[in-house]
Amino acid sequence: MTEREQNSGGEAPEKAPRRQLYGRSKGKALRAAQAGRIENHLPALTIDLERLKDGPATLFPRPVSGVTLEIGFGGGEHLAHMAASNPEMGYLGVEPFLNGVAKLLHAIEENSLDNIRLLRGDARDVLAALPEASLSRVYLLYPDPWPKRRQRKRRIVDMRFLEEVARVLQPGGELRFATDIDDYAGWTLARIAQQSRLNWLAEVADDWRLPWDGWYRTRYEEKAIREGRTPGYFRFRKEA
Ligand SMILES: C[S@@+](CC[C@H](N)C(=O)[O-])C[C@H]1O[C@@H](n2cnc3c(N)ncnc32)[C@H](O)[C@@H]1O
Repeated sequence: MTEREQNSGGEAPEKAPRRQLYGRSKGKALRAAQAGRIENHLPALTIDLERLKDGPATLFPRPVSGVTLEIGFGGGEHLAHMAASNPEMGYLGVEPFLNGVAKLLHAIEENSLDNIRLLRGDARDVLAALPEASLSRVYLLYPDPWPKRRQRKRRIVDMRFLEEVARVLQPGGELRFATDIDDYAGWTLARIAQQSRLNWLAEVADDWRLPWDGWYRTRYEEKAIREGRTPGYFRFRKEA
């Protein structure tokens, strides 16, 4: 590793070509109803990256009081819960995995949610298209851990990612991050310590041992707990 790479927290500073972060984006075959939702409902709910440049609030059919992004929503349980609990807010979700997108479309339909827009793809494309200071919150819940040393370069958290999140958050907005992988928590905190725009809010251990108010357990967290791993919850606030 060069000195420059060490200073940036392990990865070459951010001009390198973009790495593919995820593996398969398709699982078992969709049932007919799921395939129907993808075909009939996804196009109208898909985030228009061009339009996003005018601000994320413009994507919704009615005024929203703020917009939150969830990166890698998996089956969409957390995103659908948040959108149903906060109808005044707009929600953007990004997930490459087709089966997860199909599940979220089902929840949107079942709960008649009009405040979610989604993209089947890479969250970095949404971050890049968003204007500065346009989001009130970003959730990154249990990102793919890529635990082996040689795989770690595929982790979504790197200095460029944190820079982009800091750029798109409004002052006072938060990046909320959860992981069950100690090494990913340390990896992220090491990078947070190397920048100045996002500030870790923890004062006592319970601030990261216990979830924030309103936490809704994700499917991946259920699995982690079943398998004996301990989650950590991290809030990083964008400074003015
Ligand atoms: C371990 S799962 C966690 C899913 C969900 N957040 C949960 O807690 O149940 C990580 C998710 O991130 C998605 N993902 C990976 N790379 C991504 C990227 N670049 N942009 C958006 N989502 C991504 C994966 O497809 C996967 O669904």
